[in-house]
Amino acid sequence: MAGRGNARDPHVFCIADLIEHSEKRLSKMASEYIAGGAMDMITRVVSLCSHLFSSPVKDNCAEFDRYRLLPRVMKDVRNVDPTAECWGVKSTFPLGFSPTGIHGVAHKDKELGVSRAAASQGVPMCLSSWATSSIEDVVAQGVNSGIPYAMQLSVVEDPDANLFTIRKAEAAGAKALWVTCDLPILGRRLNEFKNSFSIPEGLTIPNLPPDVDFRAPTKNSRMGYDRGMTWEKVQWFKKNTKMQVWLKGIMDPEDAKLAVEAGADGIIVSNHGGRQLDGISSTLAALPGVVDAVAGRIPVHFDGGIRRGTDIFKALALGADFCFVGRIALWGLGYNGEEGVKLALGLLYDEFFATMTMVGVTSVKDIGRHHLARIAADGSLVRLK
Ligand SMILES: Cc1cc2nc3c(=O)[nH]c(=O)nc-3n(C[C@H](O)[C@H](O)[C@H](O)COP(=O)(O)O)c2cc1C
Repeated sequence: MAGRGNARDPHVFCIADLIEHSEKRLSKMASEYIAGGAMDMITRVVSLCSHLFSSPVKDNCAEFDRYRLLPRVMKDVRNVDPTAECWGVKSTFPLGFSPTGIHGVAHKDKELGVSRAAASQGVPMCLSSWATSSIEDVVAQGVNSGIPYAMQLSVVEDPDANLFTIRKAEAAGAKALWVTCDLPILGRRLNEFKNSFSIPEGLTIPNLPPDVDFRAPTKNSRMGYDRGMTWEKVQWFKKNTKMQVWLKGIMDPEDAKLAVEAGADGIIVSNHGGRQLDGISSTLAALPGVVDAVAGRIPVHFDGGIRRGTDIFKALALGADFCFVGRIALWGLGYNGEEGVKLALGLLYDEFFATMTMVGVTSVKDIGRHHLARIAADGSLVRLK
């Protein structure tokens, strides 16, 4: 039929399908590790795994539905360009992978499969310091693709342990260091308590120092999260690496200003996918305030709750320069390893491209608040200023 196109997969036509099919294949412990958040999961993201949880509220995803798109017609959309820049490198579209730990729980392809999928689609990837593959091996998968990589750091008390991960990432050619700022302690993830979650045998955490017992890191005091971290620490990172230093987990406009003053190269608006402090606002609700506070001085990237191409568009319209997804890499792996991750990226690309075309914009930089209206309490649409 004219214009119908071909489906990319016989079962999975959107990310909601991917989640459903992936969760059928994953173990209960893995499904709940991926989908879960902290406490009642008010902030957490939607998943078809929700029958496993009692929380009715899924703010990170729900906030996207509080906006409506405002398309314009007759705009000559024969040449739509969805490319965008991340860490100084061009990306196929404004989406990359946020760091998520322990990919080995989802599939044997683990982070290496995610890296190959990202490379094949031309999008960036940030590796978790709790990855089950080394940054060298991850970067090697994309060596001829030109995609950029970043290394995330869960900052611990021992500076030498932090430097171990930083040096490895630099040597591997990572462009940016993502310092996770919302992790003074681990969030209270009840599913992990209930399932006695642990890193499966056979998996290792190679980006942490080799002498760390990663199955019981808190037994080793030097691996305790750095609860003493303040803005001065940003300069320590800047002095100790040539990589760009990005701060992940900025939600408050005042913190965004302090991040700029502290010398951060960029920030990521993130609430850790609802896995740290439950009951805080969704990332999309926090985004405009942060964007206004930064006022274009450094790039503002975004993650949390993105499940559709329209979600990417809405985050950009509210001022994000680039978007990331966390759980989708794991659900892609759970569905079909590397191929499942490629499928996820392909679907999101198709949806984002279709959104740009039908809204009537040909360049990512032209996406703005004028493309959105917010649904007011009485159901009416309020155009954004
Ligand atoms: C299973 C899992 C593991 C994660 N591990 C890390 C991590 O090691 N470091 C970190 O900064 N964020 C981590 N995150 C948070 C993600 O980087 C990201 O902020 C979040 O997943 C975005 O929300 P989304 O899953 O709705 O896309 C993790 C998230 C999940 C779901």
